[in-house]
Amino acid sequence: MSQLIDSFQRKVDYLRLSVTDRCDFRCVYCMSEDPTFLPKSHVLSLEELSWIAQAFTELGVKKIRLTGGEPLVRSDCDKLVKLLRKLPQLEELSMTTNGSRLSKLAQPLFDNGLSRLNISLDTLNPDVFAQLTRNGKLERVIAGIDAAIAAGFRNIKINAVILRGRNDHEVLDLVEFCRQRQLDIAFIEEMPIGLMDDRHRHRHCSSDEVRNIIETRYPLIASSKRTGGPSRYVKMADSTIRIGFISPHSNDFCHECNRVRVTVEGQLLLCLGNENAIDLKSIVRQFPADIERLKQAITDGMQYKPQSHHFNLNAAPQILRFMNATGG
Ligand code: GTP
Ligand code: 5AD
Ligand code: SF4
Repeated sequence: MSQLIDSFQRKVDYLRLSVTDRCDFRCVYCMSEDPTFLPKSHVLSLEELSWIAQAFTELGVKKIRLTGGEPLVRSDCDKLVKLLRKLPQLEELSMTTNGSRLSKLAQPLFDNGLSRLNISLDTLNPDVFAQLTRNGKLERVIAGIDAAIAAGFRNIKINAVILRGRNDHEVLDLVEFCRQRQLDIAFIEEMPIGLMDDRHRHRHCSSDEVRNIIETRYPLIASSKRTGGPSRYVKMADSTIRIGFISPHSNDFCHECNRVRVTVEGQLLLCLGNENAIDLKSIVRQFPADIERLKQAITDGMQYKPQSHHFNLNAAPQILRFMNATGG
């Protein structure tokens, strides 16, 4: 059986596939205030995305997570879910979303076979939400989360990026929100991707600080749970939910990295914190399409996967492309 192995003997079996760079929010840590989006002609079509997904699954990838931008602003996203669900080797098809369109789309996504949802929610205060998302409506996201639960999704994970002075006072409220609804939650340290200035550096809030805040109310117990991502989980004695920490600055998870990304332009990115990229679009756009060539390019690309990222809060950001163009 084929497997993707990089030069550090890490097995790659998780693909993060970005389906759009567009989003209905403009989160401060993800996009510029006035972003320019790719022209439609640069964006991979449904068929091209499923070709790429097929090639990866034939090379041993078991888990695909659809990302963006916001995947659900793409109107054919539920069709893509239906297509990818048919890939025989795929064990998990999940999505990371901002939740704004789930009220309408959670049920069709569940019915089409999406296995898991991670939903971003950084604050429970509508004004703070509008500031962080640059005009997003909190109530739509909460309604979306409730629609996902009602649709039948289990193991939903909430993602909260915590920024000092913006939402660090809401850590316990977010934990309570998740306890009430039986949702896991991951607290994320902001990653220096895109144009960052000193203001951003000063808002860094470490996972240890977040953990200390939670421990003022709940003693935390180590958990062995893993989801195949970089989160390290803990739990509370009186609840079944897990609390995760994604700590690119304070915890090196790179030695067990199992994933690569494909941007919506068809660039294979070997690491979130590194510019190495392989162009897959030129191969999928060739006529007649040649899946063996695509698989060879992906296999060859593994040698460019770096040992780790080098995010450095005290230096100018090394990665100038924004998260929405990278695929979260
Ligand atoms: P599951 O483990 O399947 O729940 O997913 P996940 O936590 O890996 O994915 P999600 O899309 O929810 O991402 C949460 C955060 O983790 C985002 O900020 C991602 O950018 C970040 N993240 C995911 N994978 C990586 C990675 O390989 N490296 C780094 N530095 N960050 C990552
Ligand atoms: N640092 C950390 N997490 C980020 N996300 C987007 N941009 C950043 C960043 N600069 C998160 C979103 C979402 C996931 C896809 O990535 O909050 O949960
Ligand atoms: Fe993997 Fe790069 Fe993420 Fe590290 S930063 S876990 S090497 S993708």
